[in-house]
Amino acid sequence: MRGFNIIDGKFVVSLIRGDGIGPEIIESVLKIFDYINVPIIFEEVFAGLECYNKFGDPLPIETLNSIKKNKIALKGPTTTPKGEGFKSVNVAIRKALDLFANVRPSKTIPNIPSKYDNIDLIVIRENIEDTYPAVEYYQTPDVVQTLRITSKQGSYMVNKFAFELAKKLNRRRVTCVHKANIHKFSDGMFLNTFYEISKDYKDLVSDDIIVDNLCMQLVKNPEDFDVLVLPNIFGDIVSDLCAGLVGSLGLAYSGNIGLNYAVFEAVHGSAPDIANKNIANPSAIILAATYMLKYLNLFDFAYLIEQALFKNFENGIFTKDLKGNYSTSEFTQHLIKNISTYKQVSLNNENNKIEFNDNKNQIEIKDIPVLCDSKDWELFGVDVFIEWNDLRTLPAIPFEYKSLRIDFISNRATKIYPDKISDITLVNWYRCRYLSNSKIDINLIQELVNEIYKNGIRISQLEFLYKENNKNMFSQE
Ligand code: NAI
Repeated sequence: MRGFNIIDGKFVVSLIRGDGIGPEIIESVLKIFDYINVPIIFEEVFAGLECYNKFGDPLPIETLNSIKKNKIALKGPTTTPKGEGFKSVNVAIRKALDLFANVRPSKTIPNIPSKYDNIDLIVIRENIEDTYPAVEYYQTPDVVQTLRITSKQGSYMVNKFAFELAKKLNRRRVTCVHKANIHKFSDGMFLNTFYEISKDYKDLVSDDIIVDNLCMQLVKNPEDFDVLVLPNIFGDIVSDLCAGLVGSLGLAYSGNIGLNYAVFEAVHGSAPDIANKNIANPSAIILAATYMLKYLNLFDFAYLIEQALFKNFENGIFTKDLKGNYSTSEFTQHLIKNISTYKQVSLNNENNKIEFNDNKNQIEIKDIPVLCDSKDWELFGVDVFIEWNDLRTLPAIPFEYKSLRIDFISNRATKIYPDKISDITLVNWYRCRYLSNSKIDINLIQELVNEIYKNGIRISQLEFLYKENNKNMFSQE
């Protein structure tokens, strides 16, 4: 039980209309909910570009506080400026509320033209870590760097969530998607955690696949897969691929789920190219809203809306993106008309009680790994990243400093000293690895840094090289 905010027997849900087509498609949901008297009171809050233009803040604290109070939100798409401007509101919300799992079901919808039948996939994307925090640095004026972050705790939470959800929904197989052959540390940790957890789920098939192979297999045989769990960036890409497999981005929906809060939204963005034209497909946000209803145990309301939506498709009522010519509001009116033909569904039956005895969608995660401290780590060297613009010569750095010796120099992560193994096009960003045969004191690195600075060389980054029981805690070139 999450302590939802319930007033007069109705759930209070935070509502963000968003930008672009957001307000138009949210309006469809409001009309449908209103027609069938869903026991929900929406509390409207603001986020996104419009909100930024109006209030000077794309994500006001009141918005987060509202979701924290109500524990649940329905969100329209919000615009993120490209290349400059404020950071993604979606990412900010996910981080602020620790919504670590992004669940994106992709299921064949009858009467939606698509290349495949019988697809029933659930993509579970890690939602906080990886490249998404967008921790980025200019290393030199020509070179930028994005950090890819993976933690044991983050990997545990999303993988455990995937297994728990698969078990609750009686699925058969959970597949971990990764690139651990290349990213041995980050994806390696994600994959190892997956297999560690899988030991507690003997009834489920657990396996793994490299992300590029998955993409090929999904296009060839998507019906082979069941539940996929992925690091953030792969999950982002693969879930759009899955949306394409079942017909359209206009039908793809998701839940951002954490231990305490949940935010439901369409997968698509604010589609500025079709905004304010009354032609957007509201199906994805309607399906996101039905997912939210299921999460709140309001199953009959959810099924009623789903049936009425699918009836639209059966009757050939399509918006422009699906080659139809119905407007957003006409599409919604037809859906509401369909609802009136499903009078046999009782909205007062047991399933719609506001109780939380056996909710399939709310997952508890316990036993998050405790932190291991690094007391056995010993310092053996440092990677010094520098700017060096005379590409014809090696950087004028000391090749030896006390017990430290240059182990290698690389450019664009390709070794150029002592063995130049490639004619790679050089840029002005060099990694100089200094190693000692015995453990060193951090002051030695301070001295080395001063020595390099003396030569007028700008250092952009230092990475300390630790070993634990003689095992390298850093990658080789
Ligand atoms: P987009 O998903 O908004 O649009 C991609 C294409 O799909 C466009 O041609 C658009 O017209 C079409 N489309 C999207 N939703 C549709 C719908 N419901 N009905 C009919 N056609 C639809 O992706 P884009 O253009 O890359 O992003 C636009 C903005 O949305 C950006 O600022 C982006 O950062 C933001 N965005 C926000 C998301 C969110 O709030 N969850 C998710 C993805 C993008």
